[in-house]
Amino acid sequence: MSFANIDKIVYELDLLQVPKTTITGGEPLVALEKSLYLAKKLQGCGIGAHLNSNLTNFGEETGIKFKEVGVSSIMTSLIADDPAVHDWVTQRPGSWLKTTNGIKLAQKLGFRVIVNMVLTKWNFHRLQQTGDLVGTWGIDKFGATRACSPSPIASDFFPNVISTDELRESLKILYELKDKWGYKVDVLEHYPWCALQDIDKYRYLARRKCLAGVAGATIGTDGQLRPCGHSAMTYGNVFQEGLQKPWLKMKDWRRQIYSKECWDCVYFKLCTGGCPVEAQNSPNKKDHHCSNIKDIVFTPEKKFSLGLSFKTVFQFSSAVMLRKEEFGGVIVSSNSGAILVDKKTFDILDILIKQKSFTIADILDMFQTDDKSTERFISKLVKHKLVNARR
Ligand SMILES: C[S@@+](CC[C@H](N)C(=O)[O-])C[C@H]1O[C@@H](n2cnc3c(N)ncnc32)[C@H](O)[C@@H]1O
Repeated sequence: MSFANIDKIVYELDLLQVPKTTITGGEPLVALEKSLYLAKKLQGCGIGAHLNSNLTNFGEETGIKFKEVGVSSIMTSLIADDPAVHDWVTQRPGSWLKTTNGIKLAQKLGFRVIVNMVLTKWNFHRLQQTGDLVGTWGIDKFGATRACSPSPIASDFFPNVISTDELRESLKILYELKDKWGYKVDVLEHYPWCALQDIDKYRYLARRKCLAGVAGATIGTDGQLRPCGHSAMTYGNVFQEGLQKPWLKMKDWRRQIYSKECWDCVYFKLCTGGCPVEAQNSPNKKDHHCSNIKDIVFTPEKKFSLGLSFKTVFQFSSAVMLRKEEFGGVIVSSNSGAILVDKKTFDILDILIKQKSFTIADILDMFQTDDKSTERFISKLVKHKLVNARR
């Protein structure tokens, strides 16, 4: 991208109050100056920026520069603990050593490092050992994510994707690694519930929905807006048309027409159906890890509450933003979760956010709201790190 195009993107993101971004690729560090320039511009607008990089050309100076422009977390790709397997998949001799050195340096510089192992037939057998290796490095989070078939080569690539049994085996191994090493584990993509099966056990992984074209999108180097990194579908050029116009065109993704095969599933609303790109690329138009729902174990969650005291003083976390929406609004920050609220709640938050602090008792007095639902709502804000109890 040109610097002018980067300015255009940041202008559009700021205009539309987009709180979070990920700088990814391809490989952002092959365009280091542009990536640093983009991160600096985003920082200037209070927009969060995470970095995806294979860290093969990540030096101390580069790390310090990214820190200076507000990047605090990096997701990187480690294909296996075994350099031979890693370098064969990357088709780049020496890449394993460079990436692992990059990971250790990023840790030393204080970045939150997430290591993502994309699972294929080529490296599945090394999952345990790779999890153990990153455990010895004291990594913050280890992800083992099923590979999706890249659209342009989907049918050729398909024989290399893992089976549903292997997917379930990978979850079991991940949770054993979590217990063994104490680091967080995750899958970095949406998984269909009928593949996860035990939603009660894997509730944290089941939180990931397909939000392509709903709450997320990807801007290509050519400025084309796509629903997500895996999809090749384009909806207009952000450099020429801005962000709003192409974004509003993604109606097909909001109607989830590419997950048609899952519409009748009782869990569809909670699961969102498998990966629509996988479905589009597969012969039966369904995510190939979508299987039978009969084995799903799911207990609806009790209403979430932290049992907060009505007298505790709360304040909003830094960088919290309140954005108006047709249905009410969204409260979100550049480094925390997002909560959608209805109009009445939006109006209450709009008043509270202008105050330095508040208690639940204040809200009950000022807005005559129901005490139980108010306590539960503030509990949710605390859980999503949008408000915190004043020390
Ligand atoms: C496309 S890469 C770009 C950033 C950087 N080059 C890297 O490798 O981390 C972004 C993320 O997508 C993951 N990824 C790459 N190909 C994938 C695939 N076919 N299916 C799922 N994830 C994939 C990578 O492991 C990485 O975590």
